[in-house]
This record gives sequence, C-alpha cells and structure tokens, in this order.
Amino acid sequence: MNTLDYEELDEFEWKVPRKQRQRREISRIKKNAGAEQHVDYFSQIDFDNVEDYSLFDFFIGEGIISDKGPVLKQGKEACVYRCPGQGDKASVDVAIKAYKNIEHRSFQSLSSYLQGRLAEAGISRRDSMHILSTPSELQAFWVYSEYSVMERLYQANIPVPVPYAKSATALAMEFIYEESGGSTTAPRLRDVQVNGDTKRIMKEILLDAIERMLHLNIIHGDLSPYNILVRDNLPVIIDFPQAVDARYNERARPMLERDIRSICRHFPDPAMPPDQEASLMAAKLWKRYD
Ligand SMILES: Nc1ncnc2c1ncn2[C@@H]1O[C@H](COP(=O)(O)OP(=O)(O)OP(=O)(O)O)[C@@H](O)[C@H]1O
Ligand SMILES: [Mg+2]
Repeated sequence: MNTLDYEELDEFEWKVPRKQRQRREISRIKKNAGAEQHVDYFSQIDFDNVEDYSLFDFFIGEGIISDKGPVLKQGKEACVYRCPGQGDKASVDVAIKAYKNIEHRSFQSLSSYLQGRLAEAGISRRDSMHILSTPSELQAFWVYSEYSVMERLYQANIPVPVPYAKSATALAMEFIYEESGGSTTAPRLRDVQVNGDTKRIMKEILLDAIERMLHLNIIHGDLSPYNILVRDNLPVIIDFPQAVDARYNERARPMLERDIRSICRHFPDPAMPPDQEASLMAAKLWKRYD
C-alpha cells in the first residue's frame, strides 16, 4: 500500500471553483442520459490478473510483438523498449512503454491530474480512493490514461504514434523512426537542428495540433522539445499520461499556455517575444471555456 494522503485529496477537490464543479455535474448528468460517450474504466482492465502479467508475454500473445526487446530509454516515469513486431508489423519494431512503480510519482501532480481524468471517466470519489490506495491499479490507470488519449488523438489525425494495445502495466505503440522505411530511432526535437522552412512548418503543425487537441478538450500538459520526436522532418508528439481535460482541470488554462510557450520559445517569432506570442494564442484559444 502506498502512503497517499486522502485528506489532502478531499481538500484539493474542494478547491475546485464552483463554476467548474457545476460544469462537471452537468457533464455527469449528460453522460447518464447517454448524451456523451465515455469509457468505463473498470470494464477495460482486469485488475485481478495484474500481478500475473508478464510485460512482453501479453503483447506476444496479442500478436503485436514476436519477442522481448532492449530498453530504448529509461525515463523518469516509464521505460520504453524496442521490440520486433509480429504479423502485419513483422517488418517493423514496436515501442512498448512500461510504467514504473507508481509510488514514485508525486502526489501533487497526481491529484491535479485526477481531477480531470476521473471525472471524465465517470469514476466516483469512493472508487478513486480505491485506485489511489492500490499501486497496481494506479499503474493501470496511468496506462489507460495515456492510451485512451493517444487513441483519440490518433483518430483525429493529430501526429502521435499509432496506439496498438495496452495491458495493465504497459502500452504498445508504433515505433517512430527518423525516416519512414529507415531503421534509426527518431531523435527528440531538442536534439535536432531545424532550419528555415522546416522550422516554420514544424511550428505551424505543433501549434495547430495544440488547437485541434483543445477541440477534443485535451491539453498535453508536458509538451516540450523533449516530448516531440522528429520523423521525416515532421513532429510526432509523445508522452501523454499527464494530459488533462480542459473542461475540468483547474490548472488547464496555465497548462495550455505553458505548452504553447514551450513551442514558441523553441521556434521564436522575430516579430514578437515568445511569451507574448504564447499568451495571445492561449487567450484566443481559451475563449471557448470562458
Ligand atoms: N513511439 C516511440 N518511438 C520511438 N521512440 C520512442 C517512442 N516513445 C518513446 N520513445 C523514446 O523514449 C523516450 C521516453 O519516452 P516518454 O517521453 O514517453 O517517457 P517518459 O517516461 O516520460 O520519459 P522522460 O522522462 O524521458 O520524458 C522518448 O524521449 C523517446 O526517445
Ligand atoms: Mg517524456
């Protein structure tokens, strides 16, 4: 069992402005009336079997990878493996992102994140407490969160890796190469030198992606040149577990502006300071929630 402080969560919840709580309530009513599609979190994951899952065996069994693979990147929160594909993916590799022990995450970021995600998934306060108190369920929730956001973005043609499948501890997705048909792993935007027209196009695509994500009420929340891969000189956005729902999260507005700012700072406009450009764009996009 982990040591999350429930009292703190309750207190945090009540800090949500009244207007936002009302919006949530309306949304819940709509959902109950079947007016809005939502995913039943508990029907998607078999918690009883979580302990038995073998990371790679699950995806081998699903016909997605043919074997385990080496660690590509050991991140703060997850470990990404590069595995050989199977079936229609036999000629390519597959990225498997496995979450580390959830107890290492900070409670602050978790509770703020949960405001949006649990409300969106229609999960009650009581069930939220249960999730928070069981590390394996919490881990499954992060996988579910990242995977479901990726699915929605992929369906909306936003440049993200194709999500293939998820287990209770990991998700499988398209492996991003530097060039289509190549074999080298795509570099992160922070590690490449981008010039001229490519720079302009990349900035346009990324700002457009932020706007289109917002049409789905999704804010990445950690969009930076570290979480953007470059394939064929075009950006592919990754790393979504902390994405928030713009309708519910009290920090959504500053998170949106921060995402925009990191793109504007990386690709500064000669006519305007990046922070000003970001603030103008955030204000314009946020109008629909005012
Ligand atoms: N689909 C993919 N194809 C190729 N490489 C990937 C893919 N997904 C992730 N990676 C690589 O793995 C790294 C870590 O992935 P990600 O950012 O999703 O995890 P993370 O735990 O948040 O790591 P970090 O703390 O470094 O941000 C990425 O920077 C990238 O180099
Ligand atoms: Mg990352």
